[in-house]
Amino acid sequence: MPSQKPIVQLHALSKSYTETDNRRVILDEVTVNFYEGEFAVLLGPSGSGKSTMLNLMSGIDAPDSGQVSVNNTDITALSEHARTIFRRNHIGIIFQSFNLIPTLTVLENVTLPYELQGNSRKQAQTKATEVLGKVGLAGREKSYPDRLSGGQQQRVAIARAIVHQPDLIVADEPTGNLDHHTGETILKLLLDMTRNAGKTLIMATHSMDIIPYADRVFRIEDGKLIEDTERLRVGAEIKAELEKKMHAELAHSMAQLESNGSGL
Ligand SMILES: Nc1ncnc2c1ncn2[C@@H]1O[C@H](COP(=O)(O)OP(=O)(O)OP(=O)(O)O)[C@@H](O)[C@H]1O
Ligand SMILES: [Mg+2]
Repeated sequence: MPSQKPIVQLHALSKSYTETDNRRVILDEVTVNFYEGEFAVLLGPSGSGKSTMLNLMSGIDAPDSGQVSVNNTDITALSEHARTIFRRNHIGIIFQSFNLIPTLTVLENVTLPYELQGNSRKQAQTKATEVLGKVGLAGREKSYPDRLSGGQQQRVAIARAIVHQPDLIVADEPTGNLDHHTGETILKLLLDMTRNAGKTLIMATHSMDIIPYADRVFRIEDGKLIEDTERLRVGAEIKAELEKKMHAELAHSMAQLESNGSGL
């Protein structure tokens, strides 16, 4: 269960883009808190502003007005340099487009955030190797990103985002390129960090399979952030239904095994 401690606080956050005299409002005075241990899902059609919101939240982009606080630090008030340092220490970002460094190997890409926190290279390599194993990429440490499939690159990006155990993990479509099984493994890994290590996970996704795991679901509509309790409720019902079915099937198989005198 999420605690009552806010990790991310967005206050009256606005962002618009102007292209050839056409001003488009993407976020219109969005105010919301996300809490320690919380997994929040961000839905919305393509172009609705999910990546924009995540980029503002992680200090990659600056708002037109409003504030973003992470761990009680107003990151909108920091200098660019200070914001970079803050991000390095507190935030892990899984980009929609991976953003791996092509001239570095898989292992080097993943060791980087940990080393930048001041850990020794040796420590960083041990840690990175462990996390790469968790995302199913053991043995690919020496490959360069362009030798990997899209899904494998995505998993390197995930390993890189979590290797330094950030307080906040911002994930932009992290399972978009993964098959169902691999996607589920990755989701469980991220959720384990959220639930058991008290991290906050905010994820933009188009995948409805993820909703049953979320604490809260939001969508962006005409620049406003709307909490979607109905979708969460339906998601929870589907999950409960699936679990019931699974238990029933399991009980049935056990009963059959027993009545067969268990030839095992
Ligand atoms: N640098 C930019 N300059 C101009 N417009 C931009 C810029 N970045 C984003 N936009 C516009 O902002 C809107 C929201 O984009 P955003 O990437 O946040 O959408 P999204 O919800 O993440 O979509 P998707 O599901 O396709 O990833 C789009 O209309 C996009 O064209
Ligand atoms: Mg996006």
